[in-house]
Amino acid sequence: MHSRSAEDYLEAIYELICEKGYARASEIAQRLNVRTPSVTEMVQKLDEDGLLIYEKYKGITLTSDGQKIAKSVSKRHNLLFDLLTTLGVDEEIANRDACGIEHCLNPESVEAITRLLTQLKSPAGKKLLEELDQV
Ligand code: FE2
Repeated sequence: MHSRSAEDYLEAIYELICEKGYARASEIAQRLNVRTPSVTEMVQKLDEDGLLIYEKYKGITLTSDGQKIAKSVSKRHNLLFDLLTTLGVDEEIANRDACGIEHCLNPESVEAITRLLTQLKSPAGKKLLEELDQV
């Protein structure tokens, strides 16, 4: 099990690569709201752990193990974001909370939330959400 911050880094690197095709230390720092030296330190550690490859002039790429972790964090993030916004939580708050909860979510909980979301998006679920909105 990787620490919360390692997962956060892998998630941010994965998102940056998806969005721009590459991930630079300065952009990772900006996204995670940390200083660039902290990024360099963590990137070196993740490289040693075999989760990414850092080449000085080529930048950062995720190994398949790193990608697997990043994808799973990102999946949990999107699921939680979806749940919270469906419940009417503001997007910015939902994003922040999803990032806080995503690291400690058991696969069983992921399953349960997925099932709940499917129900909430059905006509009966929409009706329930409308009723909740009026309480
Ligand atoms: Fe996140």
